[in-house]
Amino acid sequence: MAIEAWYMEESEEDQRLPHHRNPKEFVSLNNLADLGVIYWHLNAKNYENDEELDKIRKERGYNYMDFLDLCPEKMDNYEQKLKNFFTEHFHADEEIRYCLEGSGYFDIRDKEDRWIRVWVKQGDMIVLPAGIHHRFTLDTGNYVKLMRLFVGEPVWAAYNRPQEEHPARKEYTKNFVGNVGVALEAH
Ligand SMILES: [Fe+2]
Repeated sequence: MAIEAWYMEESEEDQRLPHHRNPKEFVSLNNLADLGVIYWHLNAKNYENDEELDKIRKERGYNYMDFLDLCPEKMDNYEQKLKNFFTEHFHADEEIRYCLEGSGYFDIRDKEDRWIRVWVKQGDMIVLPAGIHHRFTLDTGNYVKLMRLFVGEPVWAAYNRPQEEHPARKEYTKNFVGNVGVALEAH
């Protein structure tokens, strides 16, 4: 089963709800790829001895690995942390997450700055490119176990929007959003 993604309805309701538009507007894997988002579905029960995972890690240089276990019982200030994850930001490197248990939402901005909600469940592994605006939340299941991968020593620094002059943001805009800004400036 492929990953599910959809355009979000803007709403002040609980961020853990699906926030579908009415009618629902789904987003394909190709649309996600156009934004630089890469996806695999792997066997999460076998992550310790998974040749497919090993191959991806080798090819992409993901030598660093650790785990995040997120749920109210294991975290102090769960509600506050949930809000912090939900602050729109980007990174200077890829954000690579592999869902081993539970589920959650990665929200990413499309080229027109609309929110796309990507529902990550057991076995889903996604790569968000450097410079893409995004945020994360758990869903109403309130549990996710994620594997984090990184090339070399991890840097988790987040740049909250807006920081359009940051090199990673400029590079992302150039590669995936196109020269919309340039065309506007020319007029
Ligand atoms: Fe992030």
